Amino acid sequence: MITSALGAAFGLSTFTAATLTYQHRLAISSDTGINVAFNTLGNTTAEATPVVYYGRSRDDLDMYAIGTSSSYATARSTTHKVPLRDLESDTQYHYQTCLDVYGSCLRSPTYSFKTAVSAGDHAEYKFAALGDMGVMGSLGLSSKAPESVEDFSKLDEGERSTMKALIDNQRKYQFILQNGDFAYADDAGKEITSGFIDRIPDEPLLQQMSETYELILEAFFNQTSEFARSVPYMAGVGNHEQLLTRGNMYTDELTNHTIMVDDIPTGQRNFTFYKDKFYMPGDESGGLGNFWWSVDVGPLKLIQLNTESDIKDGVPSPGARRDPALEDYGEPNEQLEWLENELRSVNRGITPWVMISAHRPWYGTWRGCPGCLEAFDELIVKYGVDVVYNSHIHLYERLAPLANGTVDDNELNNPRAPWYIVSGAAGHYDGLDDMPDNIAVESRRLIQGEFGYDEFTIHNRTHLTHAFVASKNDSVLDISTLYKTHEYKHD
Ligand SMILES: [Fe+2]
Repeated sequence: MITSALGAAFGLSTFTAATLTYQHRLAISSDTGINVAFNTLGNTTAEATPVVYYGRSRDDLDMYAIGTSSSYATARSTTHKVPLRDLESDTQYHYQTCLDVYGSCLRSPTYSFKTAVSAGDHAEYKFAALGDMGVMGSLGLSSKAPESVEDFSKLDEGERSTMKALIDNQRKYQFILQNGDFAYADDAGKEITSGFIDRIPDEPLLQQMSETYELILEAFFNQTSEFARSVPYMAGVGNHEQLLTRGNMYTDELTNHTIMVDDIPTGQRNFTFYKDKFYMPGDESGGLGNFWWSVDVGPLKLIQLNTESDIKDGVPSPGARRDPALEDYGEPNEQLEWLENELRSVNRGITPWVMISAHRPWYGTWRGCPGCLEAFDELIVKYGVDVVYNSHIHLYERLAPLANGTVDDNELNNPRAPWYIVSGAAGHYDGLDDMPDNIAVESRRLIQGEFGYDEFTIHNRTHLTHAFVASKNDSVLDISTLYKTHEYKHD
């Protein structure tokens, strides 16, 4: 009954009848597994069972799987996670989702996906990656922004956003990776106090910020669903997932009350929405939930790291401000020990290419990852990682291969050192970063003022091409090919 979904939208705390499902997000579990996440309106985990019906034939969804549900105090929707297992690799499936409530189940439209190519298949492999993508439209990035925002940080009238580019181009890619900073819901306070969003006079500022935070998340995951329901949407954590509001705490001019971290609802800090919404293969890869994980697909081992906590010795967020409610997301050095195991166990005959994705960059013109160089560089060099992909800085910078702070003289012609790319220019509320005055010696190409994303093409076991693509028109703004023989051996 559709009326129940409307009821949930108005805050009813239990499901009384079938509820619409939306905001689908797929993720690779393995070549034979897909993790399906989706949402239903209303904040509840009451007695109801999320179900995915699926099959090889669009007209005969002859299998089903059930999953689990979660939510948090301020959420406007409930997240459901359903594992699909024992699938055929590199195969198209069709599926519908629903939430079964007392035997009543309102199915979604039929969507489809393709399972991952098995590791060891060295046919050409293409995927997209991006960093720092916020909600598009009236709550985030658009052609309208306050005067304080630089012109190059806004979309031109009618300009296609990165979100739309990914929706348009999704079928080109085996998966789409966002390397941190989703939605920018933590800009809610800034958007309200700057006048970008009208202040509601009779509402305490914190309450409006808190409600706006969830509205931004809802809008963002509605938008990403347009590609993530069909192509795996792989996620790594960034600093903007940490908590409602960033930078300065805000003072409510109506009450003169200054908002402090302790005032923020528990559901809007501590990476809560990031943990809730995504369904990454942390368990499958021996990692930690959505925080660090890996997949082996085709010619590639992709390792996603967490630069926000547990970098080394249990170091908390490298941000200037630590949430006192921040839990420890692992034992000291747990991430590094897992990383070394992952790297030590790579079989280059199966996955010749090893790429690490991590939100904050520790090389380049604008570095922003205290402790990361010391934590990661030695391991990454020792085990011959091919590419390191960073984001966080809101521009594009291609670097040279680097080890221990030194440029590899071979550059892209069979370097021993990992090749670094920094790309955080997908776009969000206050847009892109200025070009710095002093460019790092390892910088090889720096592009400012263009919204874009990255396209990786692995041609074979020796050649990988990276391109930075303009979101507005698919033009290639920078392209280069890395040649690696992969013949060295680590200790
Ligand atoms: Fe960031």
